[in-house]
Amino acid sequence: MTFGFFDDEHREYVITRPDTPLPWINYLGCQAYFGIISNTAGGYSFYRDARLRRITRYRYNNVPFDLGGRYIYLRDDESGEFWSPSWQPTRHDLENYTCRHGMGYTVIGSRYRGIEAHTNYFVPLDENLEIWQLTITNQRSKRAALSVFSSIEFCLWDAQDDATNFQRNFSIGQVEVEDGVIYHKTEYRERRNHFAYFTCSGKVETFDTQREVFVGPYRGWERPVGVERGRLANSIAHGWAPIGAHQVKLEFESGETQQIIFVLGYHENPQNQKFDPPDSQTLNKRTVKPVIAKYLDSAIVDTAFQNLRRYWNGLLSILQVETPDVHTNRMVNIWNAYQCMATFNLSRSASFYESGIGRGLGFRDSNQDLLGFVHMVPSRARERILDLAATHLPTGGAYHQYQPLTKRGNNDVGSNFNDDPHWLILGVAAYLKETGDWSILDEPVPYDNQPGSEQPLYEHLQRSFKYTLDRLGPHGLPLIGRADWNDCLNLNCFSDTPGQSFQTTTNKDGKVAESVFIAGLFVLAGRELADIAQRRGLAEEAKDHLAQVAKMEATIRQHGWDGEWFLRAYDDFGRKIGSKECLEGKIFIETQGFCVLAGVGLDDGMAVKSMDSVSKYLATEHGIILQQPAYSKYYLELGEISSYPPGYKENAGIFCHNNPWVMIAEARLGNGDRAHDYYSRINPSAREPIGELHRCEPYVYAQMIAGRDAPTYGEAKNSWLTGTAAWNYYAITQWILGIRTSFDGLRISPVIPKSWRGFKATRIFRGVTYHIVVERAGEGNQVALRVDGVPIKGDTVPLPGDGRREVLVQATLS
Ligand code: GLC
Ligand code: GLC
Repeated sequence: MTFGFFDDEHREYVITRPDTPLPWINYLGCQAYFGIISNTAGGYSFYRDARLRRITRYRYNNVPFDLGGRYIYLRDDESGEFWSPSWQPTRHDLENYTCRHGMGYTVIGSRYRGIEAHTNYFVPLDENLEIWQLTITNQRSKRAALSVFSSIEFCLWDAQDDATNFQRNFSIGQVEVEDGVIYHKTEYRERRNHFAYFTCSGKVETFDTQREVFVGPYRGWERPVGVERGRLANSIAHGWAPIGAHQVKLEFESGETQQIIFVLGYHENPQNQKFDPPDSQTLNKRTVKPVIAKYLDSAIVDTAFQNLRRYWNGLLSILQVETPDVHTNRMVNIWNAYQCMATFNLSRSASFYESGIGRGLGFRDSNQDLLGFVHMVPSRARERILDLAATHLPTGGAYHQYQPLTKRGNNDVGSNFNDDPHWLILGVAAYLKETGDWSILDEPVPYDNQPGSEQPLYEHLQRSFKYTLDRLGPHGLPLIGRADWNDCLNLNCFSDTPGQSFQTTTNKDGKVAESVFIAGLFVLAGRELADIAQRRGLAEEAKDHLAQVAKMEATIRQHGWDGEWFLRAYDDFGRKIGSKECLEGKIFIETQGFCVLAGVGLDDGMAVKSMDSVSKYLATEHGIILQQPAYSKYYLELGEISSYPPGYKENAGIFCHNNPWVMIAEARLGNGDRAHDYYSRINPSAREPIGELHRCEPYVYAQMIAGRDAPTYGEAKNSWLTGTAAWNYYAITQWILGIRTSFDGLRISPVIPKSWRGFKATRIFRGVTYHIVVERAGEGNQVALRVDGVPIKGDTVPLPGDGRREVLVQATLS
């Protein structure tokens, strides 16, 4: 069964029934103001930081799952009947329910008793506000008199405090209402200089700002007493729970359409102009009024919406492909790229599975997110790299996470995830290959944000690399620290106390447990760094790095190979993890994928063996499992990985993030069929027909699909914010389709399925548009290139020296 369909022409997913297995969500805003919106208008908004500047309140894990959001109620003022055109919260039996999730906007609507109503929710570019553009048509044969009610619940800014500190919070809520605009100004009287506002283009008949008055005692959003009564109480919130609700009355002739615009926004006043008059406690509204006036004009709203569409068309046009596979096309051209923007913006902070409170921007995660984003807005990628590098520590280690608002490293989680530093090298390399902007390496960047500690970014990369060399274990492999890529393989934790964090509890001194994964990562990052050094004219440095890489490769061969696959790690007792000697967890995906993609074992048969073992022991119809056999019990010496029931998350779930490593590894071995087959198994669009099993959105990747040891094998979880987005995008575009950025130009090196006769692509790269046509002449992956008709040697198209802006590249595979 499906719950909707792809409208590729409009770049939308159209949901046709509201009761999707899980809320199917979208993101509004892509710069500073963000919203999450479900297919029934649930969700919330925030400014920059989902924890510290939460604008509207949301209760996670609610009953039903998704409740609270941007709700509109329509009330027939003759019959008194009321309903929500977005289905929730009243859940009426609607006709023509549709939710169109598009690029940065969502339109939800339906028809009920002859009244058709659709709301377009979006955030205009460069603004800190969201628009709800509601269009109502009276399809009855007679006149209709309706009341429109809006509703949102304000959050008292810090979402963590908001959800816990009630003894204070029930007393601090404050609002002002002027000309129908509801201003939420809690804590403005003291240290904040920002507020929220909620307004509408219609004549405000009545309003409410106190939740209890609006919904009524012992009622919820599904039956607010004010809506039922057909009149709000003009309540002013003092403490308790400030909300925003308007009532607008509209009369319709038969067939008439009217529009009404709601604007919810965030605004900051200069610190010395908070009040008006200055010696009062009244909010200074002069700076915000022009913004409000602007967006209550429907012509301006229409233009803002067209601008948003144009912006996205521009971003997506940087890479467009036409392959024989519709799921590949759809994901590459639309949804995977779109998801990469969301993960770049929000890292793992705010989705329907990340509460926006716990995690800021992850060092490891954000660097990897760059792989899928850097081509879209390189200037933002540059800024992100410099922010990340500023949370680097003098030791070469890094804070595991930082808060987007303050850009400071997060001390609760701290550092010592020993893979972290290397991702910075890979992030920077991806940026250099895309842009050719070598100046970034000379940017002065502090350590731990300490003024005076600035050094060129290039120096940071050196320290990242050296960090591992300073931390080698008994076998000469990198010590793992708190964890490597797998946050849940906690080999120094030994936690036997409930509630302890597996990531931050450390009961062992960490001098024994080693990670073969970090060794593979070191090899990859080291090669990139050597390349960079070479191009900076530092040949000696490059040579040193390559020598260290060669040594590490030899160590992997000697101590990181189990005979048929790569080992995963050594525990604190020096025992193997991910070996045929183990009873459980004999083989892990991470080292197979990553070592081979880093180039380890390509020339001595290890890589081929490793990939065959993946295919034999880990690959399933729903994707490649993280490890097998699953851990059936808790192992003190392994940590969180064994805390999960078998088949879920890191304990033998299909962790979609690392599947593309195997795809790339297969591509490196020339196996286009296998690479694309693995790609298709987790491709959400390809899984659309099994929506009832998959359950998550069919247009974006989820972090995990339950593995075959789980009772719910095939069920996806934790959609949207996952490294899966960037890695899949990178694997399919750069390795399978083979349109690969390099320091010297665009490489064209496809490893596609044998059955494909070819494909076409357009790629804008460093200001030049490449029209790429790939044709199969034989079964292999040997590439012959013609650039504007002229054959060239090798597979890298050099940048045109003569100022040409369009280049035709013909690639023949034989
Ligand atoms: C989560 C984390 C990521 C980690 C992965 C595996 O997706 O965000 O940092 O690598 O889990 O544990
Ligand atoms: C939890 C999650 C894991 C995630 C980690 C981040 O352990 O299970 O997937 O990467 O938190 O700290």
